[in-house]
Amino acid sequence: KKPVLIAPSLLAANFLELGKEADMLNRSEADWFHLDVMDGRFVPNISFGLPVISQIRKATNKICDVHLMIEEPEKYAEAFKNAGADILTVHYEACPHLHRNIQQIKHLGMKAGVALNPHTPVGLLENVIRDLDLVLIMSVNPGFGGQTFIEQTYHKIAQLRQLINDNNGHALIEVDGGISAENAGQLIQAGANVLVAGSAVFASENPEQTISGLKSAAMA
Ligand code: DX5
Ligand code: ZN
Repeated sequence: KKPVLIAPSLLAANFLELGKEADMLNRSEADWFHLDVMDGRFVPNISFGLPVISQIRKATNKICDVHLMIEEPEKYAEAFKNAGADILTVHYEACPHLHRNIQQIKHLGMKAGVALNPHTPVGLLENVIRDLDLVLIMSVNPGFGGQTFIEQTYHKIAQLRQLINDNNGHALIEVDGGISAENAGQLIQAGANVLVAGSAVFASENPEQTISGLKSAAMA
């Protein structure tokens, strides 16, 4: 069976206990740390930024998967590299010069991802798909944790899988928003590789066990 990666989103963590939350994730079957950066401009919410990510970097050896929900991400790409990002994902909708942004991220030595809002068609990536290491399909409108999963996502994943195959691409498909053990299996079946989960993990009684449950559900 193909590997399934689980990326808990720290947006739903207890920020007063970030060190403990990181230790929990380190012990868990989590593959990546998903770090949601919001600027109050591209999305109607503000989360956390560089200083928090630098501290998280020191607390883990796992992959730091940084999801930028910000305008003009090119201004900050180098700073996020220096803060310890392994993967840097920018939004299609925030990047009039997307090709240049992707090259910049790769030149800085990070894996490059592009995120698509729920209304953005996957076909718009046709001419950059071969350059991408990751495509993040938003399964909620970005800005907040704890929202309801959008069912149309399954169709988009299948379309993206087709686009990647047709173009001999290597991008992983990551899905973000409203994910739990309920839909994890169907998302992987549709063609996803990486599942982000925020509230499902951190609002649960035993987050470590929830992560392993997510992984089993995804692989079932
Ligand atoms: C939303 C963020 C997500 C969010 C997911 O804008 O990109 O990563 O934390 O949270 P849940 O899993 O609660 O929908
Ligand atoms: Zn995210």
